[in-house]
Amino acid sequence: MRIVVLGTAAGGGVPQWNCACGNCRAAREGSTAPRTQDCLAISGDGTEWYLVNASPDLRHQLTTCAALAPGPGPRQTPLRGVFLTDGELDHTLGLFQLKEAEGLAVWAPEAVLGSVPAREIVVSYRPWTWRASNDGVLLDGLRVDVLPVSDKRPKYAADVPAEGPWVVAYRFTDLVTGGVLVYAPCLARWPDGFDEFCAGADYVLLDGSFHEPGEMATATHGDVGSPAQRGMGHLPLAGPHGSLARIGRRRGRTRWLYTHVNNTNPVLDPTSAAHAAVIEAGAEIATDGAVLQL
Ligand code: MLT
Ligand code: MN
Ligand code: ZN
Repeated sequence: MRIVVLGTAAGGGVPQWNCACGNCRAAREGSTAPRTQDCLAISGDGTEWYLVNASPDLRHQLTTCAALAPGPGPRQTPLRGVFLTDGELDHTLGLFQLKEAEGLAVWAPEAVLGSVPAREIVVSYRPWTWRASNDGVLLDGLRVDVLPVSDKRPKYAADVPAEGPWVVAYRFTDLVTGGVLVYAPCLARWPDGFDEFCAGADYVLLDGSFHEPGEMATATHGDVGSPAQRGMGHLPLAGPHGSLARIGRRRGRTRWLYTHVNNTNPVLDPTSAAHAAVIEAGAEIATDGAVLQL
């Protein structure tokens, strides 16, 4: 299985266009690397490729990824489909940019299939197939297992009468090498069954949105309040119940990489105590463009 980590930031990316927080300034000045919004490309056989989430930065991510280059036919692409972990705009706006694709399969939780805005619009352009990911999928040398994560719905779907799960995690297993990668960029809490779901994985890419519960207020000097951050429902890294404490107790062969990192997160500053705490816990911050071979 080959994986290209196309993007590692939460919504807005780093730098975010309207943000002058310390991390966004550092990325704008070039003292830290910019980050695009989280997205993954994955292939079991190196020929047929799938995306996990479709970020608003997708055109840039696709055109700078050698494995996803078109050819040899004039309109031939190795991209076969997209797995959605949820229906957030930051994970689905890229679907609009895929409208040139003749045929794609999109897998998502039922609730997302029934409400994601891109589906209603793209259907007028292309006859893609839209499939529930609830029961897992077998494709091109990969098994894809699904874990319901939460019922946290996008703001635009507040009144949609659908049962959850609205958010899932995916576990990709290479049927030949046995390599395993888990992708869980949206964790409202440590979900039931998550330990078992991650057991034996080579890599777990998990929600690194926030280091602390009040971080957006701190980084923006109160321009964005703590209730707004709480409303997004992301388990912070820090604290006795944070994800770092969970990872620290699970050191083993698995590599834990944070993705969907918000631009306010102090872990993005390599000189910060927060960054040091990530390394100390045996975890890492994923980087844009990383290639993993399992
Ligand atoms: C999230 O990750 O919680 C969402 O992308 C935030 C939002 O856009 O409301
Ligand atoms: Mn997000
Ligand atoms: Zn910022």
